[in-house]
Parts: sequence; C-alpha cells; structure tokens
Amino acid sequence: MDSIFNRFYSVLLSIYIYNEYVGYTELDKLHAAIINKYPQESEFIASVRKHADDEKKHYLMFKNYFHKNKSMPFVVTKNYGYIDLFIKHIFKTDLQTLDQNELINDEKKFMNLCRLIMMTEFRGMKQVKTLLNSPLIKRNESLTKIFKVVERDEPSHCYPYQYWLKKFNSHEPRLKEKLVDLWIHYSLMLFKVPILLLNGKLKRMKEFYV
Ligand SMILES: [Fe+2]
Ligand SMILES: [Fe+2]
Repeated sequence: MDSIFNRFYSVLLSIYIYNEYVGYTELDKLHAAIINKYPQESEFIASVRKHADDEKKHYLMFKNYFHKNKSMPFVVTKNYGYIDLFIKHIFKTDLQTLDQNELINDEKKFMNLCRLIMMTEFRGMKQVKTLLNSPLIKRNESLTKIFKVVERDEPSHCYPYQYWLKKFNSHEPRLKEKLVDLWIHYSLMLFKVPILLLNGKLKRMKEFYV
C-alpha cells in the first residue's frame, strides 16, 4: 500500500517541481525585462522579485523532499507545465522561445501575460487547498508542512499583476482565458496525471534542474 502512496507523491511532486522551476526561471526573466522597461516602478519590481523568490523557495522545498527520501523526480515534460500550456494556447508559441523583453514592449501582449500569470496563481491557490484537504496529503506530515508554506505564499503572487492591469485599466480574465484554464486543469487531472501514475516505464531525472 505504501508503494502506491509513494508513487502518487512522486508523480505529484514531479509535476510541482517542474512547475516551480519553470515559474521562478521565467519570473527571473520577466523581472529583468520590467527593470529594463519600467525602472521607476519600484513597487512592481519588488513584488515580482518576491514572487520569483517564493517560487524558487518552493522548488527547493520539493527538491529537499526528494533528497530526504533518497529519490529523484520523474521526468516531466512541458505538457505538464501550467504556464507552458497557457502560453501555448493563448500566444500560440513555446514558453522557452518567448522573448519577455520584446513582449513587454507590446502593451496588449504584456497585459495578456499578466492575466495568464494571475490565473495560474489562482489555480495554484485552489489546487493547494484541495491537496491540504485531501486524506492523501493529510497522512504525510512533511508534505503537509510544505503545502502549508505554499498555501501561505500563494495569495500575494496575484497582486503585482492585478495591480498592473488596474493601473492601465485593462480587463480581468475573459471567457476564452477562463475556458483555457479549465481545459488545462481538467486535462491534467483526468488524463495526464493518471497516465503518469499508470506508466510503469516512467524515467527518473538523473539530476535536478539546479
Ligand atoms: Fe509555487
Ligand atoms: Fe505561486
């Protein structure tokens, strides 16, 4: 029975660690682009910095969990990355090729990006609440501790982007973005996560991202 639980934890955390890693590395790039374009916006810059630092902290907490359990995360592709999928559906491009310096110079696209980050964070907040209420997580003390830190940090992550959208009188997420969010969420929950759980040939990473 324990091995079934451990398999579930490994799959769940492999998805989390990928998303936290992509999150903080992309936010680092966004932070640099904002400093370039809006050097006077110190509050916005500081809150994006705090956001990137929090995501890196989450990454390190999950990495530490694997270390303690003497195992490695499964190899998870960008098909499991929330923000990767959002960028793919809305911008029709790959997150890795997205030029944040170029994007910040296009107001419409930058507002779009702010909305996507905001929605990713809203989804993250809902997800962590669901996990903390789940008996699968409740029975694991160290994971509960980690997810409580994530739960505490998450709400502040939406603020910088909400602030920016308000500042420029831009709208909040609309139907298309909400539908994409639901599609990404349910395709992960109903198909992609079960596929990982059942795939006996899934490879472990050889080393951590950093
Ligand atoms: Fe996070
Ligand atoms: Fe977050």
